[in-house]
Amino acid sequence: MTKDRIKTLQAMEILDSRGNPTVAVHLELEDGTQIISRIPSGASTGAHEAVELRDNDPARFGGKGVLGAVKNVNEVIAPALVGQSVSDQAAVDQRLLELDGDPRKAKLGANAILAVSQAVLGAAAQVHAEPLYRYLGGLNASVLPVPLLNVLNGGAHADNNVDIQEFMLAPVGAASFHEAMRMAQESYQALKKILQEKTLRTAVGDEGGFAPDLDSNRAALDLLIQALERAGLQPGQDIVLALDVAATELKREAGYAFEGSIKTGPQLIDYYHRLIRDYPIISIEDGLAEDDWENWQLMTERLGDQIQLVGDDIFVTNVDRIQKGIEEACANAVLIKLNQIGTVSETLQAIRLTHHAGWKAIVSHRSGETEDTTIADLAVAINGTQIKTGAPARGERIAKYNRLLAIEQMDPTLEYAGWEAFRP
Ligand code: PGA
Ligand code: ZN
Repeated sequence: MTKDRIKTLQAMEILDSRGNPTVAVHLELEDGTQIISRIPSGASTGAHEAVELRDNDPARFGGKGVLGAVKNVNEVIAPALVGQSVSDQAAVDQRLLELDGDPRKAKLGANAILAVSQAVLGAAAQVHAEPLYRYLGGLNASVLPVPLLNVLNGGAHADNNVDIQEFMLAPVGAASFHEAMRMAQESYQALKKILQEKTLRTAVGDEGGFAPDLDSNRAALDLLIQALERAGLQPGQDIVLALDVAATELKREAGYAFEGSIKTGPQLIDYYHRLIRDYPIISIEDGLAEDDWENWQLMTERLGDQIQLVGDDIFVTNVDRIQKGIEEACANAVLIKLNQIGTVSETLQAIRLTHHAGWKAIVSHRSGETEDTTIADLAVAINGTQIKTGAPARGERIAKYNRLLAIEQMDPTLEYAGWEAFRP
């Protein structure tokens, strides 16, 4: 078949949800199929992530322009890929890796590379006349994920006194995905009302969660419990809580800057131990920093049989780092972000390795997003059982949830994961 061959590939500089430049790619196939893929961008970015190429030209977008990455697509990648079939994702991604040659994709930029890799995936699904989740997941895709909705923000995503970056709702007690979204949205609205009554700020952070000025992390958790009750929901039954500490951002030479003093790794682990005793917390992401393997091991030993321990900055969707984590029993789940590694094929490899270890793979957005919904389909395709894509607010977050609502509507064979998402 020749209709699945790439006819043109053209990149452009667009804006993400923070208004920062990011890369989009417009791809056209021989048969006229067209697709635009758009790439997100993080703020609490791990040191081991693939390189996001920025222009560093202070005259444009405060140095954040991506004209270099755009040029790399148009002048290096496009000439090499025109005429290639999009049906062989692995071959396209292999070619992209060869064109770059750097292990961290520093030459062409992971943003340039992923924009192309993801466009190829989307075009392939279209030309094969399948919804993306089905093209990618085949008959095996059978589960709609539990959304992890970030409704309260601290850390690098907000300008307040809360150290934990994200407080999330997991509506595990819902019978369907749309019921889960209703429960979460009603809790989010109840939270807003409570904040207003307390004359606390209701301005939202980058992922749509509120970012009020609070005295402590526990104050944030208490507010969430109040909001659930106000919404008529049972904390611990209808909805459980998940945290992303984003501890890499808290790491200092001597330890972790947490609640006004410097804490050691073991002290933080003790703190988490008390938190999960006092609140219905089911998952903690990045409880420790990206290179603190020793304490990750200790945390897993102490808490790993009680809750999900998710590695984001420590693994960066990289098979070598995930492999090390599995061997050393650090964490029991991996956050999956396409742009941490830079190609669809490498992302799928990371997911396979994670699942093979009996760990959970949680597909995630970035704090800087676009209207692209590829990750919603990816979460379904891999039977991810959980997806992390922000508050039930802001268009770029809602785009992913709306895609999942549409998938649920189109395909009654898919079942909502519910509590199953958190069973070992
Ligand atoms: P980021 O945050 O996209 O800013 O890295 C999300 C996360 O830490 O999970
Ligand atoms: Zn994170």
